[in-house]
Amino acid sequence: MRLSTIDKKNQGTVSKMDEYVSKTPTSRVLYGRAKKVLPAGVSYGIRYFEPYPFFTAKARGSKLYDVDGNKYVDFWLGHAALILGHSPKEVVKAVKKQLENGTHYGTSHEMEIALAEQVVKMVPSVEMVRFTNSGTEANMYATRLARAFTGRDMIAKFEGGWHGGYDALHVGVKQPFDLPESAGLTRGALQDTVLLPFNDLEGVEKRLRNKQPACIVIEPVLGAGGAVPAEKEFLKGLRELCDRNDILLIFDEVITGFRLAPGGGQQFYGVKPDITVLGKILGGGFPVGAFCGSKKIMERINNVAYERPHYSFHGGTFAGNPMTMVAGLTTLKILEDGVVTSRLNRLGDEIRQTLGQIFEKHNVDAQVIGLGSLFNVHFTKERIRDALTVFRADKKKLLEYNLTLIANGIFFLPAHCGALSTAHSEADIQKLFKKTQDYLRHHGK
Ligand SMILES: Cc1ncc(COP(=O)(O)O)c(C=O)c1O
Repeated sequence: MRLSTIDKKNQGTVSKMDEYVSKTPTSRVLYGRAKKVLPAGVSYGIRYFEPYPFFTAKARGSKLYDVDGNKYVDFWLGHAALILGHSPKEVVKAVKKQLENGTHYGTSHEMEIALAEQVVKMVPSVEMVRFTNSGTEANMYATRLARAFTGRDMIAKFEGGWHGGYDALHVGVKQPFDLPESAGLTRGALQDTVLLPFNDLEGVEKRLRNKQPACIVIEPVLGAGGAVPAEKEFLKGLRELCDRNDILLIFDEVITGFRLAPGGGQQFYGVKPDITVLGKILGGGFPVGAFCGSKKIMERINNVAYERPHYSFHGGTFAGNPMTMVAGLTTLKILEDGVVTSRLNRLGDEIRQTLGQIFEKHNVDAQVIGLGSLFNVHFTKERIRDALTVFRADKKKLLEYNLTLIANGIFFLPAHCGALSTAHSEADIQKLFKKTQDYLRHHGK
């Protein structure tokens, strides 16, 4: 059944699951194939959702098109990486040109300098940069660098903080926090990681009593943790605490970098970290990560200046890949003056406010939280300041809401944070409001 037919019907009589299944027969067949060769039928566990994920055929601007011809307004945006939407023309043009000149060199080239210079120009605390292929890798190297620089083993991260699958940081992401996040994590890999309470400076001080970690890693906005913003005073307090104790403060800006402001969360909040981890937007739609900081800290990567075991290793076959560098540079130049970011942040405010009012009007206990162009709905009355509150919200209801939206042409990866891009139109936003109202009419209190 085509989307338009469902839209017209919208009786609320057909269950959202049936509605979704009836519209996605080809995806269902593909999922049967996928399950045989890809565990859970996906390339990343979080991309699975009930009853099966749709399979994307193409993407352009703010839209995803699946193999059955359904069109979705995309608020997932490739894990919040695509701030200019899918295949923006400027990036496509630059990448096409690079394609003719080589997809991968494995040697030094000017584009990696140019992108590093651009990052230095835009991100307040950064003097030097090293590129990786993912945010996970960048966090792994950043943590190692902090350990190398301070000579300490212990590291600290926050409850609900997601920094990728690197062992030492893959802890305390979901509740219950004392349950291992994954099989195969050794006690040795985790024993030096301390878990801290988000937005609670006193709690942080308490848990760090008699402990001296090399670094504290924090997302300025808990992304996978539910789009929970850090409070400004909390971040400031954390900076001071780190200064007092010679702890390196690491901002994981894989999501917030170039999104909250041209210079990321650190510019938005006015708090400078010692090391910044970047990803997503930095790659302009291509795989990327980076860790960066002051010359003094980053120089510890310099294998020419430091001998083994005094330098901190970093490297990789595709590090500084020219396709990524060109796509990233084109993207950052568009974001540099802040015009785009301000507009998206205003749009984010509008979404939080209007969606919030819609839930209120229908007497539904829900909140729309987030910051700038990041937002997330949580079905709870409780004031949300950390991931624990998010975990206490009604997730079943959120999944139902998200699947109903999907069946009606709006895509959030169920239960995950939404993001905005320059490709989103007023009509896209109005559609989100309208479909939420329709959902509440049929499924509200
Ligand atoms: C804040 C944050 N850090 C790190 C990562 C890991 O990045 P990647 O998936 O590129 O490895 C993510 C991914 O979603 C993230 O949101």
